[in-house]
Order: sequence, then structure tokens, then C-alpha cells
Amino acid sequence: MKRDILTIRDLSSEEVFRLIERALEIKKKQGKTNFPLRGRILGLIFDKPSTRTRVSFEAAMIRLGGGTIFLGKADTQLSRGEPIRDTARVLSRYLDALAVRTYAQDTVEEMARWADIPVINALTDRYHPCQILSDLMTVQENKGKIVGLKIAWIGDGNNVANSWINAAGLLGFDLVLACPSGYRPSPEALEKAGEKVRIVDEPVEAARDADVINTDVWASMGQEEEHGKRVEAFQGFQINSELLAYCKKDVTVMHCLPAHRGEEISEDVLEGPYSVVFDQSENKMHMHQALLEWLLA
Ligand code: CP
Ligand code: NVA
Repeated sequence: MKRDILTIRDLSSEEVFRLIERALEIKKKQGKTNFPLRGRILGLIFDKPSTRTRVSFEAAMIRLGGGTIFLGKADTQLSRGEPIRDTARVLSRYLDALAVRTYAQDTVEEMARWADIPVINALTDRYHPCQILSDLMTVQENKGKIVGLKIAWIGDGNNVANSWINAAGLLGFDLVLACPSGYRPSPEALEKAGEKVRIVDEPVEAARDADVINTDVWASMGQEEEHGKRVEAFQGFQINSELLAYCKKDVTVMHCLPAHRGEEISEDVLEGPYSVVFDQSENKMHMHQALLEWLLA
């Protein structure tokens, strides 16, 4: 039976740990592959811009011996109103898997319902599961473990935060999120979070003794018009050297990128010795390779 990855909750904790192990193995063996996906094709339907997710998925598929077809916002008849259910059934006859980046979570769910091939959520307004898979790999790589750590989130309770909450509920690590009121994570994500997830008002409370500190932009794609209002609401919710002083001495600083220096994170911390943001970006490719191999080989 095909597997869709629409949220982290579509995986079991064992599957997540196995993907992390495999992605780390792939990273070690970089360049050496026996092309297990020769002749297979990944389609990418992207309604929003992307540097990392698009290129790392395409590079991963090519490294596995397969090919990709990228479909931007205006490229398909979806832009002229062709129903998702027709598009999904047609594309299933040409492709082996589909990665979709769009606005509504309902869109990827409907695509998955009608497609006969695995559908991967490559970011919606609600969730960004693949980001968290590779972020967990980065935590494992840097800390040697995930469970037993305190992971802090500072800022917007957005799609990336919601997926971190899903992961904490599934794997059982401590996640403390400091979000301004009005910008808290989605109730749907929090509902199943369990007691390992806490929401606090003060960034210092989240940062105190944290092993990992993590953030993302204050205004996500599609929220550009709210930028000014959000900058005001998020004052005090920046990862900077003052906040870092509350974390453990060997804290790991993460950001899924793109970053807005001087807003959610200061330049010196982003470029500083605790930051692993470029390893984090690289790891997306290794994780996507592990994921595609698992889904399709
Ligand atoms: N982190 C991430 O998803 O980046 P892109 O928007 O560049 O894909
Ligand atoms: N929260 C951000 C993540 C970008 C990778 C956005 O949705 O724009």
C-alpha cells in the first residue's frame, strides 16, 4: 500500500528513527549509490517559492538514479481550475511520487486521497514534516540523541513549530515553545501533543537550559502583508546572544532558513559557533534521499 507523508504523524516513531539512521548513513557514504530508483520519477507541484526543499528533493532523486518534473504555480491546469481529483489521478499514471508545496493542508490531503502514488507534503500553511525529519537528523548528528533533550522554540507558532510539536508528541522529547499571544501553534497540533510539549510566554523560560534552540521567520509565505504588525508583536522574541546565555553551554542553534537577520535571529548568532543552519540545510538532501528510497525502492 502506498504511504503518504502529509504530517509527521503519518510515520511511527520507529520509522522516524530508522529514517534518521539511514539518512546519516547516506550522508557518510556521499556519492556512493547503486541508483535504486533508476527510471523512477518524482513530480513536484510547488505553489510557493523554495530553494532548499525543491533543490534537495530534486538532487536526492537524481542521486538515487531517478528523475524529476517540476511544476510551478502556473504550469498546470490546476491554475485554470482543473480539479485536484482529476490532476491527482492523471499524474499518478505518469509519476512514481509527488511532492506538493501549497497553502491549505486540505489540498495535500485531497491530492493524497485521489493519487495512487505517495504524496509528500513539501510545506503547507499548517505543517512542514520533511523539514522536521531532517532537523531531527541534525539534532541526532550534533547531540547523539533526541529523546532526553530540551528543545526550545522561540517565535511564531507556525507550520514548522506545528511539525516540531507533532514530532515531540510522537518521539517523546521535551519541547518548550515561547510564542507571543495570538501567534501560538495550531490547536490541532497541540491537541495530541501530550505533556512533553509546553507553551510559555517568556523566551527566557523556553531558553533556560535548552540543548537546542530553534526559530523561524515571523511572517511566513503568504503572510507578507502582516509583516509590519508581526514585527511589533514579536519584539523580544529574537534569538540573540543575551537569550543564548540562558541555554546550556553547548547549545545547538537551528533555523530552517530562509532567515531574516535582525528579526527572529541576530546576525552574530546565525553566523556564530553554535549555529548549525547550513548542516541543517544539507541534511534535507540526505533525509529526502532516505525518504524516497524508503517510499519507492
Ligand atoms: N527550509 C525550507 O523549506 O526552505 P525553502 O523554502 O527554501 O524550501
Ligand atoms: N514558516 C516558513 C517556513 C519556510 C521554509 C514559511 O512557511 O514561509
